[in-house]
Amino acid sequence: MAHAIEARGIGKNYGDNEVLRDIDFHARRGEFVSFVGPSGCGKSTLFNVMTGLLPPSSGDVLVHGRTTTGRTSPEIGYVLQKDLLLPWRTMLGNVVLGLEVRGVARKEATERARELFAAYGMAGFENRYPAQVSGGMRQRAALMRTMLLDPEVILMDEAYKALDYPLKIQLESELLAMVRESSRCVVFVTHDIEEAVTLSDRVYVLKARPGQIVEEIEVDLGVSSTRIEERRMSPRFNEFYERIWRGIDAPAVAAGASARIGR
Ligand SMILES: Nc1ncnc2c1ncn2[C@@H]1O[C@H](COP(=O)(O)OP(=O)(O)OP(=O)(O)O)[C@@H](O)[C@H]1O
Ligand SMILES: [Mg+2]
Repeated sequence: MAHAIEARGIGKNYGDNEVLRDIDFHARRGEFVSFVGPSGCGKSTLFNVMTGLLPPSSGDVLVHGRTTTGRTSPEIGYVLQKDLLLPWRTMLGNVVLGLEVRGVARKEATERARELFAAYGMAGFENRYPAQVSGGMRQRAALMRTMLLDPEVILMDEAYKALDYPLKIQLESELLAMVRESSRCVVFVTHDIEEAVTLSDRVYVLKARPGQIVEEIEVDLGVSSTRIEERRMSPRFNEFYERIWRGIDAPAVAAGASARIGR
């Protein structure tokens, strides 16, 4: 069966700046795949290319086996790194935006959205404007807007970063359960190795300048549960944590950071 989403030889240049080189990756239906890599290695650029918002300089994007390079696809949902809400719409108005664009009646869209507000701990904030709520709430609205569309392939760029820990692990557990129970797939970007290990079936490690995949790691925690707490307690957790840590050449990244802050 065709992969849910696939990149073949993706490259991206901005003038002389080679941001991505020869990226090959895929994600299957029912699979949770993550990208981990240093800041500036091109993770968001790769996602913008995969979703068709940005044309690549070379290579192809396939969704369910069909070429979609440089085009958006209705099967893809994208939670961007920045929450990008419309300031003149209420939180509810922002969450139903995607459904409205698809032509779903406002009343039906609103009913479906209200259930999500409760599930995401946002009941009572439906009529606030983005400027009147916290960053974590805006991020949740961006998540809800995508989840309400129930896409087959979900790309998430640091989607849970601004959330507090209990809510984050609750939403992540639910996301993982959804991936397991349906034929959907999630492709995820995170800086957090712990998050990558607890959630992923496979992790791609990227390096910077140019952005390239340096390692692909199959994660098998030997835990069937989708509960984040139980996955985190797996005796195999540390083994995968260490492999990814070594893959991103963390000491070199840390040395670079200290050099930049003048230590
Ligand atoms: N429109 C643009 N024009 C020129 N260079 C760009 C543009 N967008 C991104 N870049 C460059 O591409 C590189 C990768 O950026 P990108 O935002 O994809 O990295 P990232 O891995 O998502 O970083 P972070 O972890 O900080 O979010 C950076 O060096 C950035 O300066
Ligand atoms: Mg980014």
